[in-house]
Amino acid sequence: MARITPVDIRQRKTTGPKLTMLTAYDFSFAQLIDQSGIDMILVGDSLGMVVLGYDSTVPVTMEEMLHHCKAVNRGVKSAMVIGDMPFMSYQVSEEEAVRNAGRFLKEAGCDAVKLEGGVNVANVIEKLVAAGIPVMGHVGLTPQTASSLGGFKVQGKDMDAAKRIYHDAIAVEKAGAFSIVLECVPTELAGLITETLSIPTIGIGAGPKCDGQVLVTHDMIGLFEKFTPKFVKQYVNLSAQIKDGFAAFKQDVEAGEFPSNKESFSGGEEAVLAIRSAKNCAKT
Ligand code: KIV
Repeated sequence: MARITPVDIRQRKTTGPKLTMLTAYDFSFAQLIDQSGIDMILVGDSLGMVVLGYDSTVPVTMEEMLHHCKAVNRGVKSAMVIGDMPFMSYQVSEEEAVRNAGRFLKEAGCDAVKLEGGVNVANVIEKLVAAGIPVMGHVGLTPQTASSLGGFKVQGKDMDAAKRIYHDAIAVEKAGAFSIVLECVPTELAGLITETLSIPTIGIGAGPKCDGQVLVTHDMIGLFEKFTPKFVKQYVNLSAQIKDGFAAFKQDVEAGEFPSNKESFSGGEEAVLAIRSAKNCAKT
């Protein structure tokens, strides 16, 4: 089965239905998301926070991203898989950016890469696209540089910031990206950008006017308990169910109720008898 391509994603801006994207970091979640018919799977550098336990996405390395991208790609048949370029893998030079982005496709099997920034990374996006690497942009709240944006908060509320994000989005499209993530921007600004661009906008905390929506999977299934951003809708609370399961296992083992015959193997009784009698003979 062929995977969804950047051309398919672009077409959906006009044909609909709205695009869906979720994050995955391993084989089993990738399989579940793919089998649910989600269009795109982002191996986000949110990996650093929800799986690796870092306080931000900044420490995530290329090797960590590639390791998880490989696992995800083994589980996916039809969704498009996008590898998130970690902090400092595309800022040092255009050459290094192309080399690192290429590794996501060549070594890890991804279909595209995502990187954060607007006007400041347009030259890098151009180089990647020229090298044949499909690129998804990401503007608004850019977690890798959140501290210089005043923390994890809504961006583009005042005139200057709104204009900057608007022009960033246009620069990303002009540079050749096939779609763009809008993170934590007010609904009306996201709507304006969505009607201005010819590539699809994928919102996270950007309201309903975007061409698609993305969520961090661990947030929407209640697996990340440190904090839940306002824009997250929690569809299931797996943490509670998982903890119930772990507690029941502990209780069963301590009470001698697990494993029962149902979970145990029979056979080999004759051999055990023979060993027992040999053991008893040796004692006497
Ligand atoms: O790393 C990530 O999961 C992301 C999403 C928040 C879009 O960049």
